[in-house]
Amino acid sequence: MSILVFGKDGQVGKALQIQLAGQNDVIFLGREECDLANTQNLKKTIEHHNPHIIINASAYTAVDKAQTEKELAFKINEKVPRIMAEHIAQVSGTLIHYSTDYVFDDTKSVPESYLETDPAGPIESLGIYGQSKLAGEEAIQKICQKNPSANFYILRTSWVYGDGNNFIKTMLRLATEREQLKVVCDQWGVPTSAHWLAHLALLFFRNPATSGIYHAVPHGRTNWYELAVFAIEAAKRFGQSFQLETKNIVAIPATEYPLTAPRPYNSLLNNNKLERFMASLPYPQIIPHWDEEVLQYVEHLVSSVKQQK
Ligand SMILES: NC(=O)c1ccc[n+]([C@@H]2O[C@H](COP(=O)([O-])OP(=O)(O)OC[C@H]3O[C@@H](n4cnc5c(N)ncnc54)[C@H](OP(=O)(O)O)[C@@H]3O)[C@@H](O)[C@H]2O)c1
Repeated sequence: MSILVFGKDGQVGKALQIQLAGQNDVIFLGREECDLANTQNLKKTIEHHNPHIIINASAYTAVDKAQTEKELAFKINEKVPRIMAEHIAQVSGTLIHYSTDYVFDDTKSVPESYLETDPAGPIESLGIYGQSKLAGEEAIQKICQKNPSANFYILRTSWVYGDGNNFIKTMLRLATEREQLKVVCDQWGVPTSAHWLAHLALLFFRNPATSGIYHAVPHGRTNWYELAVFAIEAAKRFGQSFQLETKNIVAIPATEYPLTAPRPYNSLLNNNKLERFMASLPYPQIIPHWDEEVLQYVEHLVSSVKQQK
């Protein structure tokens, strides 16, 4: 059972390297080993390793830049998973792929959350990143469904944090540099740990479930402003000192913080289907609440800062 992991240097990819450290027959590939923009090379790499399981943690994730790099975004987010799916369908293997809340058109109102069965798109209402990720999902489903012996799991997630650049790290950095901060308070989502997402990949390939899309987020919900306050207050409790007091974080509407690509107001994904899968395992597992996971992450960040001093 050989496993090929793409995107090894991303947030989820690094977490997969840790989670799969004891696993035999696993090969991790990053940009250096296989530039995914060269799809011929990708095909050769897959042929050479002939994996039974592919975990695709790679993606074109630069949401704003994608608006002007449509071709590359589609190549990495649509063509690459298509090629992976073709191989998996051929060998009756398993493909685990990560996707995003950006495939939805933001028509549901908070606190309603999106179900796997809710229609994604329509494509015209999404930014290029969302369009390309949706096209990737569709390609995987279309190809893998041709072979019922092939398994595919598309784990849609939101607000990922891990070993890489992310909102929580940015807030902690800005809190050391500034005395005041403005943070958007009307966009809602669920912060999701890269480690938990990597752990889910292991659960899926070790415990085959019904192929399809699974919304992979912890329980609860928050907005960017609340998350910033939560993370900074937590870091203070773990002993980090800041220039900024959280009473000086100003909650602003998203309209006051315009970005090139549109951001969803509602990124809430309903995780009931994943919960049922996790409860059905031989060793049933529960989905954590986002704040427990963020607390652990902040503690880890603060202790790494202390060790560097
Ligand atoms: N980050 C979020 O908030 C978020 C939210 C929802 C869903 N997701 C999804 O979750 C998954 C993992 O996200 P993440 O946060 O771990 O992403 P990430 O940190 O941006 O990692 C993506 C990885 O893909 C690699 N990659 C991109 N283009 C490549 C190319 N041409 N050749 C080879 N490798 C290439 C990158 O390589 P380099 O390191 O060399 O650039 C990077 O290591 C993605 O499918 C993403 O769409 C993420």
